Amino acid sequence: MIKCVYPGSFDPVTSGHLDIIRRAAAMFDDVTVAVLVNKNKKPAFSVEQRMDFISRSTADLPGVHVDCFSGLLVDYMKNKNANLVIRGLRAISDFEYEYQMAAMNAKLAKNVETIFLMTDINHSFLSSSMVKELVYHGGDITGLVPDAIKDDVINKYRR
Ligand code: COA
Repeated sequence: MIKCVYPGSFDPVTSGHLDIIRRAAAMFDDVTVAVLVNKNKKPAFSVEQRMDFISRSTADLPGVHVDCFSGLLVDYMKNKNANLVIRGLRAISDFEYEYQMAAMNAKLAKNVETIFLMTDINHSFLSSSMVKELVYHGGDITGLVPDAIKDDVINKYRR
């Protein structure tokens, strides 16, 4: 069985992320969505909230698990006994960063491969920061985040 890991900050998970998770789940039996715990970043949502958002958004997808990690991705992959990283590519601007990360991970761990899925064209403009900014200014985020978490994202900023 091929085990793959889709890592990210997911602050919060967007419809773009969910599209990648769905497509990965259609290809692989075991997909772990791994939320990065980064002490240097100040996320809007706690790691528990971010994991809960992903769990609720992927409840209908068999084989999808949610976890968190800190430190190096390759170390986490080793602990999980997984060697495939899934990442979404939105636009040309994502390429350089993703290329560097994939190359560094491959250098750190010879058995780790990265597979890129092209982000759905409808989500190619989307980012978690944009969602948060929209909500903050009263914009409509329908369709930009999974329906299951929309109200929680809105409530965070409009209490
Ligand atoms: N649709 C919509 N938006 C997407 C997307 C998609 N398919 N894919 C990415 N994004 C957006 C995210 O919303 C996020 O937006 P934001 O910047 O406004 O928050 C941005 O793209 C990037 O986020 P994400 O995909 O969550 O990745 P990341 O850059 O936050 O995290 C890790 C990348 C976790 C994989 C990486 O930092 C990591 O592995 N860290 C551990 C340390 C390590 O091993 N480093 C590598 C070797 S030094």
